Amino acid sequence: MKKFAALLLALAFVACQSADYGEKGPERGLVTDRAMVVSAHPLASQVGKEIMQKGGNAVDAAVAVQFALAVVYPGAGNIGGGGFMMTRMADGTTNALDYREKAPMAGGRDMYIGENGEVIPQSSTRGHLAAGVPGSVAGFEAAHKKYGELPWPDLVQPAIDLAADGWKLTAREARNLNGNRQNFEKYNTVRPDFFLKVGDEEWQEGETVKIPELAKTLELIRDNGRDGFYKGETARLIVEEMKRGGGIISLEDLEQYEAVWRTPISGKYRGYDFISMPPPSSGGIALAQLLQSVEPHDLSSYGFHSEKSIHLMVEAERRVYADRATHLGDADFHKVPIRGLLDKKYQAKRMESFNPNKATSSEEVSAGAPAPPESEETTHLSVVDAMGNAVSVTTTLNGGMGSKVFVGGAGFLLNNEMDDFSVKPGTPNMYGLVGGEANAIQPGKRMLSSMTPTIVAKGGKLFMVVGTPGGSTIITSVFQTIINVIDFGMGMQEAVSAPRFHHQWLPNVVIMERAGIDSTSNLLSNLEAMGHQFTSTGGMGSVDAILVLPNGKLEGGADPRGDDTARGY
Ligand code: DON
Repeated sequence: MKKFAALLLALAFVACQSADYGEKGPERGLVTDRAMVVSAHPLASQVGKEIMQKGGNAVDAAVAVQFALAVVYPGAGNIGGGGFMMTRMADGTTNALDYREKAPMAGGRDMYIGENGEVIPQSSTRGHLAAGVPGSVAGFEAAHKKYGELPWPDLVQPAIDLAADGWKLTAREARNLNGNRQNFEKYNTVRPDFFLKVGDEEWQEGETVKIPELAKTLELIRDNGRDGFYKGETARLIVEEMKRGGGIISLEDLEQYEAVWRTPISGKYRGYDFISMPPPSSGGIALAQLLQSVEPHDLSSYGFHSEKSIHLMVEAERRVYADRATHLGDADFHKVPIRGLLDKKYQAKRMESFNPNKATSSEEVSAGAPAPPESEETTHLSVVDAMGNAVSVTTTLNGGMGSKVFVGGAGFLLNNEMDDFSVKPGTPNMYGLVGGEANAIQPGKRMLSSMTPTIVAKGGKLFMVVGTPGGSTIITSVFQTIINVIDFGMGMQEAVSAPRFHHQWLPNVVIMERAGIDSTSNLLSNLEAMGHQFTSTGGMGSVDAILVLPNGKLEGGADPRGDDTARGY
């Protein structure tokens, strides 16, 4: 019972990632003729739009938007974290870029376990030891080298200007900075003055913030590419910060970090083709499994948020997350049975125990036995350019403001991504996810992610670009957004705004957004009678998506759960 309460608490944390979400938002998002960016911050979306108007393509825009988010959206935008980028170019070619953080070479399986054999509280979530080796800047450079059209400095300069000249805080950001005050004081070895006021004064909406140290770091990256981060002054500052705070990232860790191009997970759902992120993300495989599990059922006739559709989707989620806990990890270190997990027959077998009238208890569900391996505060942005190239990026520090540690003198936050490893088998991480051997810590290994940047096409043409933050709820939010459009006939904004729910096998509970609960209807009591348990949350995730309308125009879906904004032309 104590364990169950702890798991619920962990999930409540996920809920805290977005503010309470009470209204549906507009039915129709921004519609533009040619190009669009949807990201978590209006200033970052504006940077992306201007880059494309200057002749940059969607990849250029995605890189520039991420640099801008690293300034104006410090809770999740980053250069001290990592992420994934999916690309689908106008000629139909697809690619997946992995710039996920890695465990430092001095890290190891039991690095967070105390003498009593238990996990040392908060050791993998707060402070210097929680940080994995950052991957973002290596990823931005790799993406630009392969696909970029504008000169590299053009992509970094808008972020430098924002950091040097300052930007005005939104109400949400001011709240976020005030809420993190004690953390910043507690976990930093050099006081981050740019985010800390003197005395009891609080940040207000509309106030201007500047981060001159970050502007300097970005200038080094503008002038030297990845070497401006992984070598020289910035690398030195990171390693000095580690030494002062008891962290273990070394110069060698930084120098050796490489982003990796990977083959996307691809699949079909009701005639649509989708691509999403392979390991070290669980996102692509789990999304494919979820879509395969519900495809044999006529969801469209069941209707949005009907008893039948929620029951079916929850039962699929329960089974897929049980597989995630056992089978998924960094495929460079652990043999992930990808082909077995993506086999439609395997999903059919997993769903054999599905009872249309009754919830299966999670205790009765464990990971399946797919065919053996053949031998092998986050933020999302979606971009489509005027040529028809599409980019879907999810990037993260893990928790809001990551480890809460700024690199002294360099002005940026380090991630707390190490908590995405299974720090002790069966012990839930901060999203309540459990795992085992597949995701145990090993030097140089990438921690398992749920990030699910996804691109959907139909008949060889681009159809949708979608993704979201939200920890363990990412996969189910992307799943539901796709279903909302394909099965329930919604437009992009409506699909993004619609209330969501989530089940992750353990704990055995469905989390439902409050906006989705109509107290006058007996939907939840009927589902409870079938054996489901519910808990409610404010907002879940922050989906940013773009839909190609039948007339070729683009409709943006910017999540009303955050400051998310679509811009385009
Ligand atoms: O990679 C992952 O799955 C997590 N680090 C994502 C964290 C996240 O989405 C936090 N945002 N709300």
